[in-house]
Amino acid sequence: MCGIVGYIGTREASPILLEGLKRLEYRGYDSAGVAVLADEALKLKKHKGRVTDLAKNVSGNGLSGQLGISHTRWATHGAVTEENAHPHVSSDGKIAMVHNGVIENYLSIRKFLEGEGYTFYSETDSEALCNLIAYHYAKEDADSDNRFLNSVRKTLSHIEGTYGIAVMCVEQPNELVGARKGSPLIVGIGADEYLLASDVSAIISRTSNVVYLNDGEIVSLKDGELNLITSDEQALTPEVKKIDWEIAESELGDFRNYMLKEIFDQPKALENAMRGRFSDDQSTAKFGGLNVSAQELRQIDRILLCACGTAWHACLVGEYLIERFARIPVEVEYASEFRYRNAPLDKNTLVMVISQSGETIDTLAALRESKRKGYKTLAINNSVGSTIARESDGGIYQHAGPEIGVASTKAFTSQLHILSMLALYLGRLRDMSFQEGLDYVKALKQAPALVAETVKLNDQILEVSKKYKDMTDCLFLGRQDMFPIALEGALKLKEISYIHAEGYPAAEMKHGPIALISGECPAIVLATQPDIHGKLVSNIQEVKARGAPVIAVANESNPLPEDLVDDQILIPNCHRAILPVLASIPMQLLSYHIANLRGCDVDKPRNLAKSVTVE
Ligand code: G6P
Repeated sequence: MCGIVGYIGTREASPILLEGLKRLEYRGYDSAGVAVLADEALKLKKHKGRVTDLAKNVSGNGLSGQLGISHTRWATHGAVTEENAHPHVSSDGKIAMVHNGVIENYLSIRKFLEGEGYTFYSETDSEALCNLIAYHYAKEDADSDNRFLNSVRKTLSHIEGTYGIAVMCVEQPNELVGARKGSPLIVGIGADEYLLASDVSAIISRTSNVVYLNDGEIVSLKDGELNLITSDEQALTPEVKKIDWEIAESELGDFRNYMLKEIFDQPKALENAMRGRFSDDQSTAKFGGLNVSAQELRQIDRILLCACGTAWHACLVGEYLIERFARIPVEVEYASEFRYRNAPLDKNTLVMVISQSGETIDTLAALRESKRKGYKTLAINNSVGSTIARESDGGIYQHAGPEIGVASTKAFTSQLHILSMLALYLGRLRDMSFQEGLDYVKALKQAPALVAETVKLNDQILEVSKKYKDMTDCLFLGRQDMFPIALEGALKLKEISYIHAEGYPAAEMKHGPIALISGECPAIVLATQPDIHGKLVSNIQEVKARGAPVIAVANESNPLPEDLVDDQILIPNCHRAILPVLASIPMQLLSYHIANLRGCDVDKPRNLAKSVTVE
């Protein structure tokens, strides 16, 4: 939630800040702002709305200077107004700050500072932090070289909550200070310049050399030097990491938006998930970064999969895959529930979290809670160097490339594919035979080509979408591993088209949702499994009997009778190990086209953010 970018160097800051902000808009996009410091004067521009509109206001507005900070907001405290947009400036005019996170004790800080004569202009928690820095700055020795850094450090020792901040001081025109706790922050090291940002996508066009800040660390970027310290003033040696993303991966190319691009990126994302990850004899998977031995994995009695949002749906599919192919009991938890539920876990439980961004606060908290209890923790994660990647004991990188569209597509199918590979690996450590392993690997390797085949349904799905674009309610039904795909289909539709949608196990429909069924509430039925085809046909009959249109997704070799369904989308036949991936594609394309036809901004749906770094 919220994206921040800071710049200090030898070039004009504002174009660089605005470019970075545009790439961070997936983190929030209700308002944005930029502040630049030059000749001890602060120049500030804020705008209620998107970064592109802010950019129009900035250009030609004399926001010139080589030191600056910027912010794109997802409102937590206070309405979406220009006053509440960042950067915030302390009431003495000396400190300018952008913040991502939540300051929990802001009311008491605000009260204290008001008593000290500070004035507040916004309803935000962030302004309290900004004014508290000004308060400490005023108290620091004016001759100290570290006056500014010390004032930030002292301020943060009084803060309860989470923050990623970038701060400037009018009297310190050669210094940019950043700090993090609970919200991500990185330093990009460029030629004659440093950048601060919430994540790599904001800086990748300028540098691939990055320092990831850990919680409690504070960085001063001053006179060409990077000075990293802990909250108790210990100097740290920054560890510079090389990012292997290509800038082209985060460019739109010929696509009209990121969601469509990312849907079409899926064959490549699946290839990347598999690269170098099969045994020489092609009968099992292998993962370099698990940091758990085969012996240890054989001792596991249970796996707990934990995540939020779409990644939680991936966990549900993982449960089916791992239980079916590896015969290990799996439990799935919402990370936000798990972290406060204090669930008893068996001794031999392996905890695995799944997160595209690696920064989701609840998933991170679930990981930390499990680690604290002494459990081995693994992560499936798409963002190299993210907090979850760094804090888990081991894991599997997705290598799906940057996902910019707020609605997850390629990251989801890549997670499914990795879970399927994991099910194979664990299965082969137990009862799966060599021959079954060979067949399984073959199937996994066919997935990119079959997905490429499935996205060719795009035109047909566009036509189907035109028929249903004005619906107000929609049911998604599926059984077994198609139930989570139904949940994900419903989530995709509601998040980007604002149509009310529910995913349900097909038979459970009779225990409630059937009351919603009418000619106005179509049902999308995932009827892809030959072994339970008859059961699904019965469920479709039940829906049809109540006058609802049925859109079925079925296998090419097992189509439904034409008179039973209103529309039918046929996906290629495939092994069960990759069926969830294939069945996801029509769900993505349907919601994409329906949202597009309704004129919705599919990449930036209202009220949502891609990386949820507040509870
Ligand atoms: C947000 C995003 C979803 C994502 C979820 C979890 O809700 O909009 O697309 O699935 O967060 O994010 P993560 O980065 O942990 O996978």
